[in-house]
Amino acid sequence: MGQSNKKNFSYFKLFNIKKRFNLSIYEFDFILREVLNKTYSDYLINDISNEEFEKIKPYIEIAKYKPVEYIFNKAFFRNLELYVDENVLIPRNETEYLVDIAIKIIKERNYYKIFEIGIGSGAISISLAKEVDKIKIFANDISFKALKVAKKNIKKYQVENKIFLFCGDSIKSIKSKFHLIIWNIPYIFEDEYIYLSEKVKAEPKLALLYNENVFSYFLNNFKNFLLDNGSCILEISPKLSKKLKNYGFEILNDFYGIERFALFSII
Ligand SMILES: C[S@@+](CC[C@H](N)C(=O)[O-])C[C@H]1O[C@@H](n2cnc3c(N)ncnc32)[C@H](O)[C@@H]1O
Repeated sequence: MGQSNKKNFSYFKLFNIKKRFNLSIYEFDFILREVLNKTYSDYLINDISNEEFEKIKPYIEIAKYKPVEYIFNKAFFRNLELYVDENVLIPRNETEYLVDIAIKIIKERNYYKIFEIGIGSGAISISLAKEVDKIKIFANDISFKALKVAKKNIKKYQVENKIFLFCGDSIKSIKSKFHLIIWNIPYIFEDEYIYLSEKVKAEPKLALLYNENVFSYFLNNFKNFLLDNGSCILEISPKLSKKLKNYGFEILNDFYGIERFALFSII
């Protein structure tokens, strides 16, 4: 009886701390793991001590306005643990599914020459390099600072022989053709941006904001950079579906049922 009351009290206490600081379970769990090597569920049984709380408090204060991934310079993507900072987008769950689609296509069609536009932290390219044999990935980013982060992660995962980086604006400076072009485009529209949380706004605007000129240039020219049986996969906003269908793309949903990916193939 006494024991079960204690359990309820522990959960209640932790729940109240989480609520007071307005954090998600994911954020709270992230901080507990990093600082105390514990998880949120550990405290459903054992009380969080005052000493432990004092240790996590500075981090939960910062986490009110800064993503936990930037606080600890760490983000998890598929089976990778990537270095991240304010110069790169924090890789998202949906993008893990983009990688699944890419791997399926690469294997089915025996692709080996891949181009990723806007590599950011390296989440997509490093996953492909680690999970698929015998591919070469050329990857750019318009942000030199993002490329520095990608380079660090590429080195960590020892895939320097599979990923080649350069600074560039979408397909503008490329001279070669590829089996697969992949791009998680910045797809937040200007009128949506103001409604984003402060934490999302801590991410680079360049990685978030949709740019009509850049994307239209891409759509009008990307086919020139595909090999004969080539494909292109994009991560998109549903707002772009109609436009992309007009360019011959097939639209695929993410696991929330939202139109999130666009696939073009030369058959
Ligand atoms: C949505 S983020 C994706 C980052 C990473 N690929 C991922 O999936 O986590 C878009 C990336 O594209 C880069 N970017 C934006 N405009 C670009 C352009 N015109 N050419 C190349 N990269 C661009 C940004 O700097 C950013 O790193």
